[in-house]
Amino acid sequence: MRRKGFIAALLALCTMPAVAADIFINADITTSQTWTANNEYILTDRIYVVNGASMTRFRAFLQDRPPGAAAYDIYPQGLTEPYRSSRFKIGEDMYATLGIAREDKPARFAQFAKNLEFFGAPAALFCFVDRQMGPPQWSDLGMFLQTFMLLAQEAGLDTCPQEAWAVHEAAVSEFVGAPEEQRIFCGVAIGHADRDNPINSLVSDREPLEVFARFV
Ligand SMILES: Cc1cc2nc3c(=O)[nH]c(=O)nc-3n(C[C@H](O)[C@H](O)[C@H](O)COP(=O)(O)O)c2cc1C
Repeated sequence: MRRKGFIAALLALCTMPAVAADIFINADITTSQTWTANNEYILTDRIYVVNGASMTRFRAFLQDRPPGAAAYDIYPQGLTEPYRSSRFKIGEDMYATLGIAREDKPARFAQFAKNLEFFGAPAALFCFVDRQMGPPQWSDLGMFLQTFMLLAQEAGLDTCPQEAWAVHEAAVSEFVGAPEEQRIFCGVAIGHADRDNPINSLVSDREPLEVFARFV
């Protein structure tokens, strides 16, 4: 399957409305399918798109499903420097854009909880990975997501990758019908960023070339 065609079709699906039927796609979706706006297309086997009526159903489904422990360590335990400080700083920078103080735990928790509403985005995908896959394949997944997000920008859509969904592996797996051999990696919220929201003014620090690269 050509990746760009796959992702372009995926983006088109993200803007489709109500669901009439579940249709499983596991062939070359650029050529083998007639797409109809009110169906739900499930791109077997690892990417699940939630949009329109299925998003409404998902939000209701999640109501009585409390989050659990994350399905994997989102950061390594005992994270050392310089990563520890970088992680801390991006968090502090983000809360500063919102005027949320470090000691205001309820406000910080409420902000985190917005992850589980896709920050208000109307569409999302969930990215799963076969449990037998290891770090090299997870990195492939990152490249896939990067390509997806760049093409989304090209199509006029904004995205937010969300490992926060690791706290809802059981509920998401059940909702999308992921088989036991798959584990969740992340969600990706898809929509239009609110440019007036101060959080979207955040530009994360980038290390200069001479810090992250050594010319030997
Ligand atoms: C795979 C992945 C998962 C992420 N998960 C979350 C998340 O759950 N919640 C969140 O607020 N940001 C998350 N982020 C960070 C943001 O989506 C975004 O990358 C960040 O706001 C900074 O943007 P930048 O990539 O331009 O530095 C994640 C980033 C990546 C690449």
